[in-house]
Amino acid sequence: MSFDINGWIKGKITPLFEEIKPIKNDGCITSPGNMWSLKKEVALHLYIPSYYNIIKNHFKNWYYFDPFCGSGLFEFTKHSILKGEKFPGSPIIALAHKEKYPFHQYFLSDKSKNNTNALNSRIKKLYNLDIGIETFDFTSSIKSVEHIDDRTGYDSCLAVIDPVGYAVIPWTDMERLLKIKTCDLFIVVMTNDLHRNLSAALNPEQNDDKGLTNFLGNDSWKNCETGDDIVKKYRQQISNFGRYTEIINVNRIGENKIYDIILSTRSLGGMNVMKGISEKLQQVTTEKIQSQAISGSGKIKPLDEYC
Ligand SMILES: C[S@@+](CC[C@H](N)C(=O)[O-])C[C@H]1O[C@@H](n2cnc3c(N)ncnc32)[C@H](O)[C@@H]1O
Repeated sequence: MSFDINGWIKGKITPLFEEIKPIKNDGCITSPGNMWSLKKEVALHLYIPSYYNIIKNHFKNWYYFDPFCGSGLFEFTKHSILKGEKFPGSPIIALAHKEKYPFHQYFLSDKSKNNTNALNSRIKKLYNLDIGIETFDFTSSIKSVEHIDDRTGYDSCLAVIDPVGYAVIPWTDMERLLKIKTCDLFIVVMTNDLHRNLSAALNPEQNDDKGLTNFLGNDSWKNCETGDDIVKKYRQQISNFGRYTEIINVNRIGENKIYDIILSTRSLGGMNVMKGISEKLQQVTTEKIQSQAISGSGKIKPLDEYC
């Protein structure tokens, strides 16, 4: 019997809609989301149990690091059917696993005070926890985890780097994270933004883009023709730290690539898990996610689809 990818994705998405029911209408700020935002949350949801099962045998402590944590909920603002519906963001995904797959500490931060306030209140309501979410920018947040592999009996961490655009993740900061040998990374890279800005930057009249140089840490983008070429270079630079990388593409509905998720680890076991997740999620189009999200949200009951 062939693998039922639609049933599988529905089985992942529906419990996440359920998880947030108590906070769905709490009146706090939400982050704007789109159908394609779901794939990164599902990837993280899949990785945490396997990460836990690998590291619990090798490390004393392990941490979840989310320096772009957002408000904890994102809201479909433009979708014709799901408009107003909400879905958990990365910190809630991590905490939803805390009974079976806990981290020793959750380092959550965001530069927006409105977001950190909203997330704080949601975590208290859902899990009765006071985590101490910081209002930091990315550069300042890294110090929380930067030295975990310097200690005797060092620790591990899972870092989720989910910025808006690429300007706020300069290579100098990414290098600090990549140097942490025991840090697994999920990095969301806005490939379509890179592509758009590359075309402008390669224009002979401009031929400069400080943003692209800042992102890559060099001007090798000048030898690129597409956003995908830049992502390939970025992935190569990550590999230069002795790391494995895997990639998951995320497209807009019926359209081109919107972003890539780069997964990176130095652990062979972690790499095998990332490879499995990537292979599975490559089969999951945004259209498939959309149809399972519509039924998983409970917005349309199965029989309504026949009316
Ligand atoms: C794509 S959202 C994150 C969504 C979140 N990971 C989730 O799954 O719901 C990006 C977040 O980055 C925050 N942000 C933007 N620039 C930042 C910076 N320089 N440092 C830290 N946070 C920043 C924004 O306030 C926003 O909440």
